[in-house]
Amino acid sequence: MFVNKNQLEHLLKPDHYTSEDFFQKELTCLFLPGWHLVGAKGELAKPGSFITAELFDTPVIIYNFDGDLAAFLNVCSHRHCLINSERSGCMKNFKCQYHGWEYKADGSTGRIPEANCFRPFDRENARLKKFPIATCGDLVFVSFAEDPPPIEEFIGDSFDEIAERFCEPSRFAMSWDYHYGTNWKVPVENTLEAYHIPELHPTSFLGVYPGEDYSTHILDEKFTRLEYNMREYWLVYRLLRRGALLLGAKLTNTYIHHHIHPNFVVIFVDLHAYAFSYIPVTAGTSKVRLVTYCFRGKRKNPISWITWLISRFFGKRSVLKIALEDAAIFADQQRGLEKSPHPGVIGTLEERLYCFQKYVLEKCGEATE
Ligand code: FES
Ligand SMILES: [Fe+2]
Repeated sequence: MFVNKNQLEHLLKPDHYTSEDFFQKELTCLFLPGWHLVGAKGELAKPGSFITAELFDTPVIIYNFDGDLAAFLNVCSHRHCLINSERSGCMKNFKCQYHGWEYKADGSTGRIPEANCFRPFDRENARLKKFPIATCGDLVFVSFAEDPPPIEEFIGDSFDEIAERFCEPSRFAMSWDYHYGTNWKVPVENTLEAYHIPELHPTSFLGVYPGEDYSTHILDEKFTRLEYNMREYWLVYRLLRRGALLLGAKLTNTYIHHHIHPNFVVIFVDLHAYAFSYIPVTAGTSKVRLVTYCFRGKRKNPISWITWLISRFFGKRSVLKIALEDAAIFADQQRGLEKSPHPGVIGTLEERLYCFQKYVLEKCGEATE
């Protein structure tokens, strides 16, 4: 059931999706104080593995120092090159790609080729800038705040639920980045409503539309949530679920979509867990980073691997298909926002957008009454 019985005001005006001033306000008020998803321990498992990210015009690198993760500004102190620009990888030593300066876990320099040429060496000025890092299950977050809130507080009551879904008996399946030609709030609002499913995803949800009768919305100041009772599955997925049951999976037939304001979304179905972070790039562009975990079971045997491989194949195929179907509309919505004379309107089935918009405006110091 939905919470509201009548249509709601579209609190954000078209300007809020295009204005440079408001964009700067969002960066300061919404994003800089918080935590940001950068990846998963599953892609940082081996000592020497790393991932990079570009967040709010800041390049970041996260490196595994023999099991300890550390996050740094991805800029070498020698002559300013990105230490590494690959999306992810593994390097035996934490070393700049240009002249090979090495760094330690505290950001200080390690081996420097031809070090004699740099005497007297200014060790303090050569130290990399370090960022706070935290995890929820296997999900890895960084913050640019001097003194960020504990990650448990930032994520809130769903912390344990999220931690449980992004770790054993599920396993890292994939991560994916995608750029959008639209303001960051457009993909966030798209993911908060199922209203567009018949038009944009006529086949991707098996033709099933999660209408009011099977849906529950939870609306809160800091988050909103949809729980939907799933009733239909592809035949292969039904077989996969049977296999997973034998491996100890708990099947609830529930689709959960949980949005933590402003930009972090998790989706859980029985065998899959997806985490999305929607990152502003400019007032009119944004990107998403997606991390996916799939159920494998606790025991490591061929059946659990096969279950995981099939589950990963279907999980990846369906999430990317849906994400690209959504992405295809965003540039047109952005163009419309640039020229719209309308105030907009939010239907009861889109009521989660209202909470999100209220949060954005209030955090940015604009009145909503
Ligand atoms: S710029 Fe990094 S080692 Fe020279
Ligand atoms: Fe969609």
